[in-house]
Amino acid sequence: MAYRWKNDLTRADATPRNLILNRRQVMAGAAGLGALTAAAAARAQDALEPNTFEEISSYNNFYEFGTGKEDPAANASAMVTSPWSIKVDGLVDKPGDYALADLLDGLTTEERIYRFRCVEAWSMVVPWNGVELADILTKVGVKPEAKYVAFETTVQPDVMIGVQYKVIPFPYVEGLRLDEAMHPLTMLATGIWGQPMPNQNGAPIRLVVPWKYGFKSIKSIVRISLLAEEPPATWNIINPREYGFYSNVNPTVDHPRWSQGSERHIGGGLFAGRIDTLMFNGYEAEVASLYEGMDLKQFY
Ligand code: MTE
Repeated sequence: MAYRWKNDLTRADATPRNLILNRRQVMAGAAGLGALTAAAAARAQDALEPNTFEEISSYNNFYEFGTGKEDPAANASAMVTSPWSIKVDGLVDKPGDYALADLLDGLTTEERIYRFRCVEAWSMVVPWNGVELADILTKVGVKPEAKYVAFETTVQPDVMIGVQYKVIPFPYVEGLRLDEAMHPLTMLATGIWGQPMPNQNGAPIRLVVPWKYGFKSIKSIVRISLLAEEPPATWNIINPREYGFYSNVNPTVDHPRWSQGSERHIGGGLFAGRIDTLMFNGYEAEVASLYEGMDLKQFY
């Protein structure tokens, strides 16, 4: 099956033609420079110019390794990521403890350049490498009664200072509705910028759901369960009023303590500074149909 965005989101096509044109116009001369720069800035959010490897791997949330943005990069190198196995259980035809290599065997690894929007209102653009979650679920066989997918992160207390101090409940858990999990945009990522996934970003394999706030994209996954009922999700357990199960990026539904209308783009370059947040993080055309008829204020 060929999906439009697979071909769209290669690095070569990352910058839309209109933005390139604007850059040229901006460089062409002083006349109208202000207006053109504003136009370029307005379109910048439509472009996908990836953040650097350094930016993506040095500013992280991974509470197992501490609550500061630099803590994961400082502490996560001690995490054991090999050998790695994932328990697949629940409503599946072929449950078991799968070696990571066996789970990935025969699947196509691709690069996907996705916007990444944290609920804390910062963002990056990340060139992920990985597979579609749907391919893995198809491989293990989803039973018809399954309606949700649950995920769990490794717990390695000896090397996880956040686990030692119980900064939040562990293991970190997350979940998706089955149709969200099967959506072709949803991936299990094993790398960034063509490099193996840095530990601080969730080595060796983590979820990426680009239209949802970043906390849904659970790291260092050791268990995938197919369930009939909605599974618990860590931030929803901690503070259900502030963090819903769905957590779709939505500039019209504010966090109780801050606006979700805009975001601070991490790093320099064309995107530096604050940009408007897009509905479903810019993936509205692809995913809006999943939520047809749902009150997105109620199901935040
Ligand atoms: N997964 C686990 N296991 N533990 C975490 O603390 N933080 C989440 C998510 N996945 C988190 C996690 C949050 S809040 C965000 S924004 C993203 O990871 C950050 O991913 P990044 O560090 O790769 O940018």
